[in-house]
Amino acid sequence: MNRIVYVNGDFVPENEAKISVFDRGFLFADGVYEVTSVLDGKLMDFEGHARRLERSLSELQMAAPVTTEELLAIHRELMARNDLSEGMIYLQVTRGADADRDFAFPDASKVPSSLVLFTQSKAIADSPAAKVGLKVISIEDQRWARRDIKTVQLLYPSMGKMMAKAAGCDDAWMVEDGVVTEGTSNNAYIVKDGRIITRHLSNEILHGITRAAVLRFAREAQMEVEERAFTIEEAQSADEAFITSASTFVMPIVEIDGASVGEGVPGPTAARLREIYLDESRKSAI
Ligand code: PDD
Repeated sequence: MNRIVYVNGDFVPENEAKISVFDRGFLFADGVYEVTSVLDGKLMDFEGHARRLERSLSELQMAAPVTTEELLAIHRELMARNDLSEGMIYLQVTRGADADRDFAFPDASKVPSSLVLFTQSKAIADSPAAKVGLKVISIEDQRWARRDIKTVQLLYPSMGKMMAKAAGCDDAWMVEDGVVTEGTSNNAYIVKDGRIITRHLSNEILHGITRAAVLRFAREAQMEVEERAFTIEEAQSADEAFITSASTFVMPIVEIDGASVGEGVPGPTAARLREIYLDESRKSAI
């Protein structure tokens, strides 16, 4: 594959793209990111991702490298140059490359932040996994306490995916103080007696852009939504379980720690929400 990627103002072939070894993203995981899905050559929920990026940057006192309008133009140029009709666009902003390795943040007026974007071509709407569902294990949540900021510190979530793989499963749900926080790279939900239950927003979880849209659509469709924490035991005895993220949309979970959820097959609520989410988000994609 030789994609055209975006690095600090330039569109270049991926094998010619360069970032300094002193970049703080590389040395300190001092950076934030966004993943925006693309369907029919259009961006899903771009506004939501742009707003969350602004928030992540301001929480870390990091300068925005470009305006939201410029960011949209870069996304579009990248889609066009890579002929991307379906998949994702990954965006990363780091605090740039200082002259040396130093824990203290550099002066933002002297060291500009770095901006990198690349495309990932993938069939995400017609996903075979959505028809069979995923199996998850539970693991302890050992991440830092500011999970509301979408930082590139993803080592523990990567370890979680590897623990899941080693157990013959697809993903892991993380548990803190006896209740589920979220999946390694997605928000977690259960359905009981027609009610959709998902953890309330706080610094303990990422405020998913897909979560916000799915809960809005669910309420518009007169479905009951309860935002509160739940345990693994409650999830195992739920009627359905599912996850949401920009790369999976609404994806059913059929097994948790070896116990089947409901009938052990994708349930009707997840299927309906996936359909509504895809229909509505396609309509508003830009
Ligand atoms: N992950 N929770 C975590 C920890 C995440 O990393 C993500 C997204 C979500 C869902 O957020 P959204 O609906 O805005 O995609 C929740 C992205 C897809 C990733 O890391 O690839």
